[in-house]
Amino acid sequence: MNTHSAPSHGTVHLHIEDGIAVLTIDNPPVNAGSHAIRQGVIEALNHCVQIRGAILIGAGRSFIAGSDLREFGAPLMWPELPDVIAACEAAPFPIIAAIHGVALGGGLELALGCDYRIATRDAALGLPEVSLGMVPGAGGTQRLPRLIGRAAAIDMICGSVRISGEDAQAIGLVDHLAQGDVLAAARAFLSQPKAKRIVADLAVPPTGEATLDASVSKAMKKGRGRPNVAEAIRLVMAAAEPDFAVALADERAVFQRLRLSDDAIALRHLFFSERRAGTVDGLTAAPRPIGAIGVVGGGTMGQGIARACLAAGLPVTLLERDPDALQRSLAAIDATLQDKCYRGRLSPAGMVQQLRALTGTVQMADLGACDLVIEAVFEEMSVKVPLLTQLDALLPAQAVIGTNTSYLDIDVMLADLPGRSRVLGLHFFSPADVMRLLEIVRAKATSDDVLATGLRLAKYLSKQPVVARVSEGFIGNRIYAAYRRRAELLVLEGAAPQDVDAAMVAFGFAMGPFAVADMSGLDIAWAMRKRQATTRDPDTRYVTIPDDLCEAGRLGRKTRAGWYDYPAQTPVPSVQVDGIIHRARKATHVVPQVFDATTMQRQLLIAMVNEAACLLAENVAQRPSDVDVAIANGYGFPRWKGGPLWWAAQQTDADITADLTALKCAIGHGYIPGPVFETLSKMRT
Ligand code: NAI
Repeated sequence: MNTHSAPSHGTVHLHIEDGIAVLTIDNPPVNAGSHAIRQGVIEALNHCVQIRGAILIGAGRSFIAGSDLREFGAPLMWPELPDVIAACEAAPFPIIAAIHGVALGGGLELALGCDYRIATRDAALGLPEVSLGMVPGAGGTQRLPRLIGRAAAIDMICGSVRISGEDAQAIGLVDHLAQGDVLAAARAFLSQPKAKRIVADLAVPPTGEATLDASVSKAMKKGRGRPNVAEAIRLVMAAAEPDFAVALADERAVFQRLRLSDDAIALRHLFFSERRAGTVDGLTAAPRPIGAIGVVGGGTMGQGIARACLAAGLPVTLLERDPDALQRSLAAIDATLQDKCYRGRLSPAGMVQQLRALTGTVQMADLGACDLVIEAVFEEMSVKVPLLTQLDALLPAQAVIGTNTSYLDIDVMLADLPGRSRVLGLHFFSPADVMRLLEIVRAKATSDDVLATGLRLAKYLSKQPVVARVSEGFIGNRIYAAYRRRAELLVLEGAAPQDVDAAMVAFGFAMGPFAVADMSGLDIAWAMRKRQATTRDPDTRYVTIPDDLCEAGRLGRKTRAGWYDYPAQTPVPSVQVDGIIHRARKATHVVPQVFDATTMQRQLLIAMVNEAACLLAENVAQRPSDVDVAIANGYGFPRWKGGPLWWAAQQTDADITADLTALKCAIGHGYIPGPVFETLSKMRT
């Protein structure tokens, strides 16, 4: 037995009536499966004598949202979850898991240790351990395949997929759907005698080789080489072996090892940081109501924002400049929803409902009844300021206005606006209905209840909020700009763009900085550099290569040429780009050096870390962990590395010092050192 003094949270209530025991798990807010809960279930079961059956249910909004992750960094105290499940299986009476709300991770594993599962139609069931760097560790990889087959189990476990109660019933994970109250349904289910039905005793249903192979390849591809994904697949495959106990012990051993792995610890850092990022210390104001949404500008971002709101069930009025632009915008939204429907990601009824909730207009007055209007018009002060003035004059005092600007100074934008306290930045990422990150920008004038409204919007849209203050590029784009600048300097100093990209992909990024630049288009940053040309300090190192690429008509994927050539979809290194780079080196008298992958990775990462430290010192971000949340959710940073500051906090001080010295040398004149060690010390405590 392991003992240690971890905090114990929650309790289990036992109520026995008419020979049926009801065990209610009570650990607000989400009934996390803590040590106290595990102990409580065992004790309650010990009190159940001469009963016909037992029902396991969660108090409040959910069954069990998962094991209490706060316990995972230390030895687990007895009883562990497998002990609780063993007690359920050994009980002489049938146990029903009555599932409403969420049953995730250890919660679902406990339900799998019950004899029957009854769920509400809209319950959410899943085993998300793989997304937390682990594998299910209390029989999930062994019991789930016995109910739904190995291929479906691999899909669900490796994809960390949540399914509804309705879908769970369709595949055999749930035995019965509750119409209405789940406790009443479980009682009704037990009104007829029920035999024990231990999932561990069931045979794994046969699955065709081809189906299994398809699930394995999909999981491996999505898992991007993470060791826990390969382990999860191996364990599920082993469920077909005859000795259940051996496979179960194997699973537990893998879980115990992985829960203390670097990946899992970093992912838990992100898990807690993401929850914290949605809060603002000292903010007590209640949000304003969010009902009808207005979107101004139906271009790339406006369309995505409209789709995100529609998907959340919010009615949207979309305002465009003229009927043609409006028509194009509405047609594009229509086409995307049709495509979603075609791919099975949206039901036909859902599509119709969303399209009905969308109104297009060219009359500003039609926004008059909106609670929240988000502008996504051209990135020009001369367009945004008059628009905000018109909206401010039109909208009732309670309505909130959001600007989706990427770089403009919102404080300047609002300087002369009478209703400036009701405006905030709502910086979505493209495509706005897909990307999870939402930077909520608190301008100097933004009132607390308006800020709270932004946070509530994020919740409605299932976005990951990060609160920022006004600064060029806010948190994410500002840090990314420092990263990209260092990447461009590396190319000037001797690295090939494809080698820089390959190094960052090897680190775990989804794409390298140059492939990303080609995808977003090089012209936006070009336009910005031209605007800044007159105010740029002539002594700072300036890499002309991106400008030269644009002047050569190489604007990225859309022109089938950028940092790479695009004869087809795959980027190919370009001879023309080599020439441009060569000329830039010659013009600046740079003798090309050779960089290894580690040096390139560390230089790009330290550029992010230094910029993050600068913006934290300026209070642009509330806390270091918010930076990690922004970069991991909006910029393809590998989640299993926890974010740039988490990564840096794991490095030695000597290595960080060496990296900072090299960065300072590369940037040269104008380098601004951030309080890096002070920032990292906050991460390390
Ligand atoms: P876009 O050029 O695709 O769309 C702008 C739309 O606004 C156009 O359809 C235009 O007709 C419309 N518009 C312009 N003035 C208008 C007015 N007075 N009334 C009604 N409609 C008007 O631009 P995009 O890319 O959608 O960007 C919009 C805003 O979002 C910009 O501020 C941009 O910086 C920001 N943003 C862009 C991101 C991106 O990846 N494209 C990411 C995050 C923010």
